[in-house]
Amino acid sequence: MSSFTKFLNSSIGKKLMMAVTGSFLLIFLIIHLIGNITLFFGAEAFNGYVGALDVVKPLIRVVEVVLLAAFVLHIFNGLKLWIENKRARGVNYKVNGSPENSALYSRTMFLSGSIIFIFLVSHLGTFFWRFNVYDPMGLANIHQYFDIVVYFFGIWWYVILYVIAMVLLGFHLNHGFQSAFQTFGWNHKKYFPLIQKIGAIYAVFMAIGFASMPIYFFFFYGGNQ
Ligand code: HEM
Repeated sequence: MSSFTKFLNSSIGKKLMMAVTGSFLLIFLIIHLIGNITLFFGAEAFNGYVGALDVVKPLIRVVEVVLLAAFVLHIFNGLKLWIENKRARGVNYKVNGSPENSALYSRTMFLSGSIIFIFLVSHLGTFFWRFNVYDPMGLANIHQYFDIVVYFFGIWWYVILYVIAMVLLGFHLNHGFQSAFQTFGWNHKKYFPLIQKIGAIYAVFMAIGFASMPIYFFFFYGGNQ
């Protein structure tokens, strides 16, 4: 095993991988939210935005591959760390008392991460799949992407899944943001409280921003299913 692979398999290597992939995903979410805000400006704005993405398709495909790699590595390393943490807990309890905060942190991140994963699979299976691969309603073929979103955000259980996932996303981002800074070693006593505040504002902003879309379309755009 090369020393680089050994490092990636070490505890700090895995944490660094979580922080790097997580930071990339934090940036993706900002761009994704800004793009999706066009939904509030009506069909023409949103269809125009998706159409504009089509023009730079090769670039988008590259970004999507990097994004997929980031998600896979983030989830894979997260699971490994969670399992290690679980195993170590038994030992730690006996050796130096219970690291309860770390146990709670690990459990919260695992739970919120798992629900976000379920959300993501269903999200890609509806929007990404229909926009790019096959839309049984035939709306994507005629570039009526807005109508696909309106259709799904009119389904009550789909809206509930979204809103629950976005609340958990908020918690996940809040923890993850400060955790990434800590891993990068940017946890100076003087500045860390500010980093925590910025992380909390970012997390609330993302959760409310993303959750506002299904809520708006369900309640104010004739949700009826
Ligand atoms: C209400 C909130 C959201 C809306 C309306 C929304 C909408 C969309 C749409 C329309 C697409 C397909 C874009 C295309 O292929 O042209 C998409 C793709 C995607 N979404 Fe979301 N999204 C939301 C929240 C999220 C969240 C919270 C995440 C991550 C946790 C996420 C992750 C992704 C990913 C990874 C893709 C595939 C990459 C891409 O095509 O850009 N989305 N989303």
